[in-house]
Amino acid sequence: MASNRATTASGNFVLTAETLNKALPKMHFTTQAVHADDFVSPHRAIAPAMHPAVNYRYARDPDELVEMENDDPNAPFDSHVYSRYTAPNSNRFEIVLKTLFHSDVVSYSSGLSAFHCMLVHLNPKRIFITEGYHGVHGVIDVVSRLSGVTKLTLDDIDQMGPGDMLHVETPLNPTGEARNLAYYKERARAVGAFLTVDSTFGPPPLQDPIELGADLVMHSGTKYIGGHSDMLCGIVVVHPDRVKEGWGEKLREDRLVLGSVMGSFEGWLGIRSLRTLHLRVTRQAQTTEALVSWLQKGVEDRNSIIGKVVSKVSHASLQKDALKEGWLQKQMPGGYGPVFSMWLRKPEHARRFASKLYVFQHAASLGGVESLVEWRAMSSKEEDPLVIRVSVGVEDLEDMKADFTQGFQALLDERS
Ligand SMILES: Cc1ncc(COP(=O)(O)O)c(C=O)c1O
Repeated sequence: MASNRATTASGNFVLTAETLNKALPKMHFTTQAVHADDFVSPHRAIAPAMHPAVNYRYARDPDELVEMENDDPNAPFDSHVYSRYTAPNSNRFEIVLKTLFHSDVVSYSSGLSAFHCMLVHLNPKRIFITEGYHGVHGVIDVVSRLSGVTKLTLDDIDQMGPGDMLHVETPLNPTGEARNLAYYKERARAVGAFLTVDSTFGPPPLQDPIELGADLVMHSGTKYIGGHSDMLCGIVVVHPDRVKEGWGEKLREDRLVLGSVMGSFEGWLGIRSLRTLHLRVTRQAQTTEALVSWLQKGVEDRNSIIGKVVSKVSHASLQKDALKEGWLQKQMPGGYGPVFSMWLRKPEHARRFASKLYVFQHAASLGGVESLVEWRAMSSKEEDPLVIRVSVGVEDLEDMKADFTQGFQALLDERS
């Protein structure tokens, strides 16, 4: 067995990625999420260490001094120079991500810094985008002051040409409805434009925009990748063909000078989070589909408690045309996403609903293990005052239904 293993300079046996891949070449997502980084640390601790260090001692041997290299013979896979470049926790986090996404993944300090670096990298003259997270539009406004990039909508893509950036968020915030990525890829490919996807609401194992041909895919890792409402993070996944063209390296070079690197504590939390990504997201998506279907049935019965308060529900699982055409099931084989919206009948009900709930908490972000609702008017004056966005956590479905039912009843009781 020893021949399968590498040794450190001090003669210790160490596990390598190659050894692991050779022994178990067909490891599944859930196993990879727990073991993809086993080879990184020379320490015997089962859980990763937390390394806050910014700075790393150079070799003592003057013959080993090489610019921007600092190979530690006792930590062959965990050698660093300065943490704006690489650091143990974020590096280990990226190693797990690369295995799970089957391509190069660059981590960032937030979802918006990931989008910023994508935009800087492509440096388009025009970006085609409709709706989506408002902060992304804020980044475009800032960059447009420097580069003059202009913004057009997805309805304008007939005008798209070489080097333009087509940016599609799917599923979309706050409706949870999906967009047809195969269609947008075809349109971008036909004219030599770049397709970038914000897949925050469709994390693995729900959808894989890289497989559908996206050049770059970003996630606000703050949401499902982190999953516990305790870390800010962004990631960019690079299409394997673009990795060959050096895009991953270029993104890292830009990140080094722009300084939008993720913190070490977030890297450590991120590794903890990835271990359960598949379990959390699969359960959240399944619970969402059941909850949405229950609500939809209630909406269709005007005399039910739900029907008296809610007029409409939106979610990918209710996109009848897309399901009939078949692209939706194909593009989201793992489930339709843990976010949806509902329209209440009265604005005062929409404003007061969150204060009636116990399982669901009222907050701006989403994607954690805790179920959340947001009266969308809290995020922007332009939002429809009837809309409640729901982010489904990992609690029991029956408790969620019970919470909504007593919440709707409490609103109806307020009248008397
Ligand atoms: C779809 C989407 N993209 C990007 C972002 C920005 O991510 P972050 O808050 O991590 O910067 C968010 C945040 O809510 C989001 O919902």
